[in-house]
Amino acid sequence: MTTSATTPLTASGPNADQIDYWNGDAGERWARYQDKLDAMLQPFSGAVLELAAIKPGERLMDIGCGCGATTFEAAEHAGPAGHALGVDISAPMIARARKRAEERAKTSGGHAEFMLADAATHDFGANTFDLLVSRFGIMFFADPVAAFSHMKPSLGTSGRIAFVCWRPMKENGWVSVPFFAALPHLPPQEPPLPGAPGPFAFADPDRFRSILEDAGYRDIAIEPFDASLSLGRGDNPVEAALEQTLEIGPLSRALKELPNETKTRAADAVREALAGHVSNGEVRLGGAVWLVSARA
Ligand SMILES: C[S@@+](CC[C@H](N)C(=O)[O-])C[C@H]1O[C@@H](n2cnc3c(N)ncnc32)[C@H](O)[C@@H]1O
Repeated sequence: MTTSATTPLTASGPNADQIDYWNGDAGERWARYQDKLDAMLQPFSGAVLELAAIKPGERLMDIGCGCGATTFEAAEHAGPAGHALGVDISAPMIARARKRAEERAKTSGGHAEFMLADAATHDFGANTFDLLVSRFGIMFFADPVAAFSHMKPSLGTSGRIAFVCWRPMKENGWVSVPFFAALPHLPPQEPPLPGAPGPFAFADPDRFRSILEDAGYRDIAIEPFDASLSLGRGDNPVEAALEQTLEIGPLSRALKELPNETKTRAADAVREALAGHVSNGEVRLGGAVWLVSARA
């Protein structure tokens, strides 16, 4: 299996829109904010890797690995005899992950490698992995049943999966507080179609369960998990949280094409809302996820 592809993926196949999206501004911004996003999202990699219970020597794939934080953490669990492969469609994020892998090579005990590929369609071969993990990288497939069915043979007959994905937006203060503060300043927003590819595609656990059942997985367990997320810290935590909120996530998408005056009014409203959530020098808001496990 080659892991050295460096040229961007062609935006084709069922996930062409997502390949376009994550190779544009969004991927560049995630790569730029990697440190801050990893600090914010760490509670969720901790939780999903505890669920995964990776044993030394195991081989795993991190689906939608982004800049690699979860892949690196998983590789430590798998140890020198194991192997962690991070797979992502975003060239800027895979480039960032590979750079970090080079920097870590001298100190890290695990093997982490990265591949630019669509996990929903790439041929990983049969019996290649003991488990599939993902921190928020599995909600973007155009046809999730086809995607999870396609990946299943790579687990043989005894492999397992451990994923973390978002519960509904209204339960996730880190998104809903800024979004609803900005809403009066935005043009009317079309609510996303339930289940459409995006961060909240698997917010309905019954839908996710039936997708995994239809894809042939068994022993499916879906449990809620909550964490307090740090959106901004340092000398000016509110400005740090505001900057990140305007650059990454649903609000940044909603603001993208709007005139500067509208963006400024929305930003003022978001700043005021975030200022109400400062404690001990940090802006903290709630994050609510599903921890999902199953067997192939
Ligand atoms: C919300 S980001 C999460 C990144 C990373 N797992 C983390 O937690 O920092 C979602 C990631 O999924 C990737 N992704 C979306 N669809 C994918 C696909 N079909 N195959 C591989 N990666 C995909 C995106 O490029 C993006 O890096």
